[in-house]
Amino acid sequence: MPAISFQSVSKTYASSRQQKTQGGNGLRALDDVSFDIEEGEFFGLLGPNGAGKTSLISILAGLSRPTAGRVNVRGYDVHTHYAQARRQLGIVPQELVFDPFFNVRETLRIQSGYFGIANNEAWIDELLQSLGLADKATANLRQLSGGMKRRVLVAQALVHKPPVIVLDEPTAGVDVELRQTLWQFVARLNKQGSTVLLTTHYLEEAEALCNRIAMLKKGQLIALNRTSELLKSAASNVLRFKTDGNLPWALAQHARITGRIVQLPARDAGEVEQLLASLREAGVAIEDVEMRKADLEDVFIDLMAGEQTPLEVAR
Ligand SMILES: Nc1ncnc2c1ncn2[C@@H]1O[C@H](COP(=O)(O)OP(=O)(O)OP(=O)(O)O)[C@@H](O)[C@H]1O
Ligand SMILES: [Mg+2]
Repeated sequence: MPAISFQSVSKTYASSRQQKTQGGNGLRALDDVSFDIEEGEFFGLLGPNGAGKTSLISILAGLSRPTAGRVNVRGYDVHTHYAQARRQLGIVPQELVFDPFFNVRETLRIQSGYFGIANNEAWIDELLQSLGLADKATANLRQLSGGMKRRVLVAQALVHKPPVIVLDEPTAGVDVELRQTLWQFVARLNKQGSTVLLTTHYLEEAEALCNRIAMLKKGQLIALNRTSELLKSAASNVLRFKTDGNLPWALAQHARITGRIVQLPARDAGEVEQLLASLREAGVAIEDVEMRKADLEDVFIDLMAGEQTPLEVAR
């Protein structure tokens, strides 16, 4: 039985009155999305802003109803068996929402109470310790910094030791130290058998952590594969250099440009030579030239730029 099963999930948000008068039919945030996540996987759900990741997670959490389709968590339908499904899930939401009147420990106790768990102190202590919150246990949530609040959200999601952990952008606005602490902790829970579903815009984190990855684009599933296979599908190398010049259009189309730094995909040495020749011909002076292996970000940019047909997932 899969840990999570999305079956032909579609979601259309009703249009606002203004959109309706302009003839809008609502926004199709998810379009017939189907895939399974197996027990024990560390699974990445990727896609640009607005692709539908949080919409899918809200449906999984039972916070929003799909327009069509169903979602099961370890065999429990999130709609018809809400309480059982919810108990399987530890969800770290993208938005920071919390009750400012309680301190950190109280918040975790209250959350334990929601799940009917008494005497959860040992696990609460371990969570506080593992997430670097031990010295903040009696601090009021109002007094915490943004990154600290996010740690509390993570602890809150895990109080009932859920077998399935869902993290929606857990490292947005989080410093390097907490990211490392968080990933060590989540990786340990995954090793111990927890299933993890992660959305992130830090693709190097997804590449390092996830065994399998799904990509959403405008509500449609356009890629679903093992991380290693996705990496193989890209041009295998990237030519990286700095320049003040303007790239010829044919090259600019495929380039990843960050300020003066330009990165161009290349399959082999022959293609690198061609790229360099085109640059010379166009009179573009380059410096600090180097080659590197393609990474998940290259694959992502490639997939998002292309014209994809949605994946037909064999069921
Ligand atoms: N409650 C809502 N009402 C109307 N439209 C919504 C609602 N929630 C999301 N949307 C729209 O649905 C689309 C998908 O949004 P969603 O939040 O799922 O994207 P996302 O992939 O999580 O993006 P991000 O990376 O920015 O978090 C967007 O166009 C968004 O504007
Ligand atoms: Mg989101």
